[in-house]
Amino acid sequence: MKEPSYKERQEEAISRAREIIAKLSAEKGRPLYANITTFGCQMNARDSEKLRGILREVGYVDTENEDAADIVIYNTCTVRENADMHVYGRLGHMNGVKKKNPDLIMGLCGCMMQEPHVVEKIRKSYPFVNLVFGTHNLADFPELLLRVLSDKKRVIAIEEKTTTLPEDMPVKRKYSFKSGVNIMYGCNNFCTYCIVPYVRGREMSRRAGDIISECERLAADGVVEVMLLGQNVNSYGKGIDDFISFPDLLRRVCQVEGIERVRFMTSHPKDLSDDLIEAIAENPKVMRHLHLPVQSGSTEVLRRMNRHYDRDQYLALVRKIRERIPVISLTTDIIVGFPGETDEQFEDTLSLVREVGYDSAFTFIYSKRTGTPAAKYPDQVPDDVAHARFDRLLAAVKEGADKACARFEGQVMDVLVEEENKQPGLMTGRISQNIVVHLPGNKSMIGKILPVRMKECKGFYYMGEPV
Ligand code: SAH
Ligand code: SF4
Ligand code: F3S
Repeated sequence: MKEPSYKERQEEAISRAREIIAKLSAEKGRPLYANITTFGCQMNARDSEKLRGILREVGYVDTENEDAADIVIYNTCTVRENADMHVYGRLGHMNGVKKKNPDLIMGLCGCMMQEPHVVEKIRKSYPFVNLVFGTHNLADFPELLLRVLSDKKRVIAIEEKTTTLPEDMPVKRKYSFKSGVNIMYGCNNFCTYCIVPYVRGREMSRRAGDIISECERLAADGVVEVMLLGQNVNSYGKGIDDFISFPDLLRRVCQVEGIERVRFMTSHPKDLSDDLIEAIAENPKVMRHLHLPVQSGSTEVLRRMNRHYDRDQYLALVRKIRERIPVISLTTDIIVGFPGETDEQFEDTLSLVREVGYDSAFTFIYSKRTGTPAAKYPDQVPDDVAHARFDRLLAAVKEGADKACARFEGQVMDVLVEEENKQPGLMTGRISQNIVVHLPGNKSMIGKILPVRMKECKGFYYMGEPV
């Protein structure tokens, strides 16, 4: 007999798991509930949507109440230490829940699981966790789930490398009208502070044809906005046969009928090309927002971070982008307290932030990640110094952001309405520049792109009025 293909094996696992769930559900006289928490970035969130897709296929019903779920999955992140701490904290709570519900399947996956010391700790100190897998075997989830369901034994399956990309998995999206689309996995940049290349593996691009068909399928399913995802989208295309450059990929995605808005993340400044600036400028469907992580304003720190650009190159790039696309909004990521960062070097970061005037910035205190080069650098910055710098940086970011945000006051702009606001009668959406707008309205507006007057800027968001 012919060996079943990978896909056939997963499908078989799904149908056998479905039978088990149906039986359990008949025994309990109620549906079985599932809850997944995403701890990390957009790519992590996209992975969760694939896991949710499988869980739905086998018959689980989503619940927001994790304590009442029959399967709980933590899709973890390990980019900074506090992400890890957060997971351990929540696990402590789940230990208590599992005592009350011994049938609970407690699963852990994602980037933290690619660190051997973490898996060791889970093995020893968290015996109630019964399913562990990593970033490289996400596509095996149906088989792994079936093993826990049928054997009732603990399943710990970690791979060193991806053999099968998580393509063609059923997906349950968080939003009906927008979706992330992976264009590449992994990262080759090895910034010296960063653990991502170790836990996500080497850069691997998807074929352009597959990306476009996915966008077409999404559009047919009601999606109007896609976010193209990769750790460094500007290096998209390396090592595959169906090759086009990232700017050309962007152009192709813009041609997909039904897709009205295209975003992408993240752009590494070192290889942002003139052609990309052109592709954004010439395509109104590409949103006027660029997330361009700078990390530091000091050339010396950037060199030790292995970022491959210096302060002046970054500032020149910002000028070039703004000249060609004046309405663009720029956001960034910044780390303070990188090992050896002096007061002067930190001042360079502050002055760069003032010079650029970002629409917003994610600011982080450097977190030492075991296994990265920077973890062994001398002169780790003391906590109190890092915190003091962090506070000053935050104030500088806020000052620039308030000013940048206010520049649209009074204008009428297109808003994609995304969700109901907590405040009754208010809806929340985003303009092209990714700035949040609250406006009066109702649920029927969700997923629609509407002209809205940007009435009042409230710092980093707007109060708007449909026109
Ligand atoms: N690939 C993206 C970043 C992904 S991680 C890029 O290069 O832009 C998101 C952000 O987390 C990074 O931009 C960086 O600012 C921050 N970060 C990564 N490792 C960190 C660490 N060890 N300590 C503090 N912040 C870190
Ligand atoms: Fe980390 Fe640098 Fe890769 Fe971004 S580009 S994921 S910061 S190594
Ligand atoms: Fe975190 Fe992994 Fe994303 S470490 S930031 S979830 S790639």
